[in-house]
Amino acid sequence: MNNLNNVESLGGEAWKWKQLFISRNAYEVTEVYITKWQQRNYTFLGLVDLLVNPGSRILEAGCGPGRHAISLVNMGYSVVGIDIDPEIMGQAQRNAERLVPNKDISFQLKDLNKIHLEFQRDEFAAITHGGLMEHYHSAQEIRYALQKQLMIAPYIVFDVPYQTDKNCGLFDRENDQLFGGDGVFRQLWDKDKWSEVLAEFKPLIIREDHTDPGMTDDLVIVLKRRES
Ligand SMILES: C[S@@+](CC[C@H](N)C(=O)[O-])C[C@H]1O[C@@H](n2cnc3c(N)ncnc32)[C@H](O)[C@@H]1O
Repeated sequence: MNNLNNVESLGGEAWKWKQLFISRNAYEVTEVYITKWQQRNYTFLGLVDLLVNPGSRILEAGCGPGRHAISLVNMGYSVVGIDIDPEIMGQAQRNAERLVPNKDISFQLKDLNKIHLEFQRDEFAAITHGGLMEHYHSAQEIRYALQKQLMIAPYIVFDVPYQTDKNCGLFDRENDQLFGGDGVFRQLWDKDKWSEVLAEFKPLIIREDHTDPGMTDDLVIVLKRRES
């Protein structure tokens, strides 16, 4: 049996995530929402499209209510979403049943920090995630997490918010604070700092800023496994 009772949810307690998704209208998502989401995440999804062959299997980590997972299925991928919170994962399942019925998409209750023990090497063509890595408490923890992910997939495509005035406003915090007004822990480094933290992976880092006042400015990052 899956026992995730003692696992810490990245960023804060699980209830906070559910409340945040609801407050951003991102919990029970509609087709219109997903269409807009795909348009707004043009760089992120475009990079997946460029790197990963159609029909391949993708692992979407910390999937939340499934907006990335559903977008990827719409692009023709086969998707497994994992999340640590059973309630949020249940919502992802319901969203997928309603919006992409009969498509190759499934969800599993799993801890991102143990995926190297749960899945085989190259079981997935890529791992994707959005807004997850900034919730680790140190650069070293971020690197460990990414190393584990590269054990099971040759590519990782992910995004993180970075330090801009807009993001500080959205998270309701001063530049040097680690917790926002929403009580969630986040690293909010600038692009140079993320480049330094990820240097060993030789990352591709591209800015994806959003004109929508409610959407964070992000860095989209691609890592490729380096065979030794
Ligand atoms: C910032 S949200 C990102 C959700 C999704 N990427 C999106 O944009 O809708 C973080 C999600 O990660 C999940 N999570 C937190 N810690 C996790 C862990 N250790 N393993 C798997 N999922 C986790 C939370 O339950 C939450 O749904």
